[in-house]
Amino acid sequence: MKHLIDIMELSTQEIDSLIEIAEDIIADPGKYSEACHGKKLATLFFEPSTRTRLSFEAAMYELGGQVLGFSEASSSSAAKGESVSDTVRTVSCYADIIAMRHPKEGAPLVASRRDWVPIINAGDGGHFHPTQTLADLLTIHREKNTFENLTIGLCGDLKFGRTVHSLVSAMSRYAGVKFIFISPEELQIPDYIKTDVLDPKGIPYEEERSLERAMPKLDILYMTRVQRERFFNEEDYVRLKDTYILTPQKLKNAKPDLSILHPLPRVNEISVAVDDDPRACYFKQVLNGKFMRMALILKLLEVTV
Ligand code: CP
Repeated sequence: MKHLIDIMELSTQEIDSLIEIAEDIIADPGKYSEACHGKKLATLFFEPSTRTRLSFEAAMYELGGQVLGFSEASSSSAAKGESVSDTVRTVSCYADIIAMRHPKEGAPLVASRRDWVPIINAGDGGHFHPTQTLADLLTIHREKNTFENLTIGLCGDLKFGRTVHSLVSAMSRYAGVKFIFISPEELQIPDYIKTDVLDPKGIPYEEERSLERAMPKLDILYMTRVQRERFFNEEDYVRLKDTYILTPQKLKNAKPDLSILHPLPRVNEISVAVDDDPRACYFKQVLNGKFMRMALILKLLEVTV
């Protein structure tokens, strides 16, 4: 493992190993507090972020390392026209590992091609978000103690939602998994996920417009935000943004052991009244993201504790 661009670069054994490290960090954080002493992480964020950037930074600090970087393209020389490749080559003179978010799909892959330092894709356009998937996987594993025989409902913007594409790909490798894709027609799951990921493995899926109809079947409900920044016209965004709003009322027919996930940020798609439901896992997911990013940094820097 040299870089992490797409979650599918990790085998299920490598995911198990990252989960094992994350669980060990959770059990004994002090053991890891100097693991990355003398190492530096650069966070290059050409797009806004709260969780991903700050959890990477918290992860590196908790490993005893240091952090540098920028949180918007306008404060870097990208604003003067510098290429991603030159930016990464420059930063690799100062840092041992880079986490990068970019609005252009494929930008982190391009940055990784020359192997200057390990590159972690922290989200590229509507494409992939592998470290969010690591957070999702640790959350599912902690809640369900397995990845097998789960019915997973994904609800909201399934077209542009990079976290959805990465999670479906990752979960498609486990036995007995079924998907229910709940979205408006305009935001349905891209065809390539069906033809390239699900159909070749014979994985069952349904496409559904009604969250209420799908609810009783679900073991996991993965809610997503309709992303204003991916729309070309405001009118379409306004028409679609509140299609699904999860409320306590809509959970009446849900299984008692349903797990509700959301990569966050949320806008309106989960009522705050759901936050106190024991089935709401989205803030646990935030914390799990930091532990999985710590495990990933250790792996990519080949640090053993
Ligand atoms: N889940 C996620 O990527 O959140 P941020 O955009 O705040 O990093």
